[in-house]
Amino acid sequence: MDTKRVVADFEDWREVVAEAVAVLEDGGLVALPTETVYGLAADAFNAEAVAKVFEVKERPSFDPLIVHIGHKRDLEIVADVPEELEEIVDELIATYWPGPLTLVLPKKASVPDLVTSGLDTVAVRLSAHEVMRAVAREMPIAAPSANRFGRISPTSADAVMAELDGKIPMVVDGGACRDGLESTIVAPEMTEKGPVLRLLRPGPVSREDLRKIAKVIKPKKTKADHIEAPGQVESHYAPETPLILIDKPADFVPEAGVKYGLLSYRGEGNSSLMEATEWAHIEIMSQGKGKLAEGAVRLFFCLRNLDAAGVDVIVSESVSETGIGVAIMDRLRRAAAATKK
Ligand code: TXA
Ligand code: MG
Repeated sequence: MDTKRVVADFEDWREVVAEAVAVLEDGGLVALPTETVYGLAADAFNAEAVAKVFEVKERPSFDPLIVHIGHKRDLEIVADVPEELEEIVDELIATYWPGPLTLVLPKKASVPDLVTSGLDTVAVRLSAHEVMRAVAREMPIAAPSANRFGRISPTSADAVMAELDGKIPMVVDGGACRDGLESTIVAPEMTEKGPVLRLLRPGPVSREDLRKIAKVIKPKKTKADHIEAPGQVESHYAPETPLILIDKPADFVPEAGVKYGLLSYRGEGNSSLMEATEWAHIEIMSQGKGKLAEGAVRLFFCLRNLDAAGVDVIVSESVSETGIGVAIMDRLRRAAAATKK
């Protein structure tokens, strides 16, 4: 299959949206930009199209997909918000939609089981990217990140092509993703003491942000075959090259004969590994003072470059775990954990 790559520019993005909608209505798949990472989109109510998503991604069918809607009011097409959660859901939506926040809520029976992997909940989000939002206004869209299973999410159309060229009919190039890390996923729950937010995946909407709305609690521990947020599978978000995550420079002891690549947070500086060895390749996430938001935007881009550089081992510095730093460290730990297996 030839993959058609179309640029969604300032002037003609509406035309591109119409073209993407036509492919989707026909049961085809389209990779679309969002503000977090690129998504691999299918008509959420077309189970056959959704099945293609699993096939193309080589994704196990126990890992449910996120449904993207185009208007806040469309939430009721896919989810049944329990009365006791209405207030907190309204507040979350009013504060963060459109934006990088995914809500896990009881699903409408009409949502195909394949989308939710048989769970009675559905993950829903309203993207802030005009292209994804315009497409989702036409129909709810099931869209996981547009990478093969267990790999790094694509934050550019080039990265999508590297993952899926020849496997899908169309990629919409909407430029680099603004946030660069997958959306924050929360499941609002009611307790005796009031509503709480179960944080299933850290992301651009930080824990501190969420705390302003309600108490934030950890995901339940789950068995490998029953996963509440299967994004928690450790091997997610892994480069192909082994990665080790270093806490402080003294922890890194280079071995002779190994080609190391460095993922540095801000380049030179006190806690930097820049001088630790003769690096075969260096990527810097946020040169200079170091800004966590820039680090988040560039993390997957830098990891892809390191993967392509042909080093034996990627050595990553740590970033401080505040704000979006929590999500950056979450992805880096998963990448390092995947390496250990
Ligand atoms: O930023 C994002 O969220 C991107 C863009 C494309 O929207 N999408 C994304 O999708 O990251 P994906 O499929 O790569 O990750 C979705 C995560 C998975 O870890 C999945 O297990 C979890 O959401 N998930 C989906 N439905 C769920 C549900 N009903 N309960 C718990 N977790 C769910
Ligand atoms: Mg993914």
